[in-house]
Amino acid sequence: MQQKINPALPPATTDRRIADHFGADANAVVYPGNCLDLLQEIPDKEIQLIVTSPPYNIGKEYEHKLDLDEYVAQQAKVIQECARVLSERGSICWQVGNHVDNGVIVPLDTVLYPIFRELGLVMRNRIVWHFEHGLHCKNRFSGRYETIIWFTRPGKNYVFNLDPVRVPQKYPGKKHFKGPKAGEYSCNPLGKNPGDVWDIPNVKSNHIEKTEHPCQFPVELIERLVLSMTQPGDWVLDPFLGTGTSIVSAVRNSRRGAGAETMPRYVEIARQRIGEAMDGTLRVRPMGQPKYDPQATGNRLAVAPWQQEGPKEQLRLLQSARDYKA
Ligand SMILES: C[S@@+](CC[C@H](N)C(=O)[O-])C[C@H]1O[C@@H](n2cnc3c(N)ncnc32)[C@H](O)[C@@H]1O
Repeated sequence: MQQKINPALPPATTDRRIADHFGADANAVVYPGNCLDLLQEIPDKEIQLIVTSPPYNIGKEYEHKLDLDEYVAQQAKVIQECARVLSERGSICWQVGNHVDNGVIVPLDTVLYPIFRELGLVMRNRIVWHFEHGLHCKNRFSGRYETIIWFTRPGKNYVFNLDPVRVPQKYPGKKHFKGPKAGEYSCNPLGKNPGDVWDIPNVKSNHIEKTEHPCQFPVELIERLVLSMTQPGDWVLDPFLGTGTSIVSAVRNSRRGAGAETMPRYVEIARQRIGEAMDGTLRVRPMGQPKYDPQATGNRLAVAPWQQEGPKEQLRLLQSARDYKA
């Protein structure tokens, strides 16, 4: 196996629990370099869950903006290697948003989907991750969702455990009103299927998990995938590791995690966060915690000053259609 590590990248980790190279005896691997080099170290069908958020080709500090075709070709190389290391019952989850060029958006899942299909993988869900914070657009509606496209090998044999990720029922007290089960509770006491639209806060400045990385995904988003698609001891791989969120989600749940990251500063942050996750000291937003509701908590900034006084045009929005006179 080739060991290509850029000498400009940080030295081997000092935390002995975190390896720099993939090995069957490791629990966590942070490879400081290109993901294709890490993938070369991984045997065929070794990984149960591959989950990542790749660069979106929008000119962030960690990427060179490419022609879209060139970007898709680069992604194809990584996805092809991911399909090789995917276990028989494993899953690949690619979390993406839009590539934006001169105000024109290209939803990346639409251009990446054919790559997965050509590799013989099949889609199980296209999860919409909805969040509330982001850029305020002037010439189109502000983007407030991204997607996770989930693929497995064909057939019904893939791992999927719903129970650990069920969410509270809307009407847990509801009962069957007729038939042989009349009078019994009609819902699953463990909760309901979370569905394929996930409302989870994104990691912006006030988020407890925020680091200096501009595009972290939240631990709770990835934990839902880890818990439903893997078993304890399985490998979780993130080829574009960033600050290590996928490995954090893996080790917090007794899984093993591996990933590659090219930017030395993010490698450092990832190692720090993974070490803290191993020690149980990393602060994360827990899965299932209700979203902060400024109105319910009486935040005074949530009351619009113009509801009391203000320009007529704003007040008209509060009038009923009957009272309204144009
Ligand atoms: C969208 S960010 C991922 C952030 C991550 N999900 C987190 O929670 O921190 C993509 C990351 O991929 C890294 N990257 C870009 N090209 C790479 C490559 N060829 N191999 C490994 N990492 C790469 C970038 O430096 C960046 O940190």
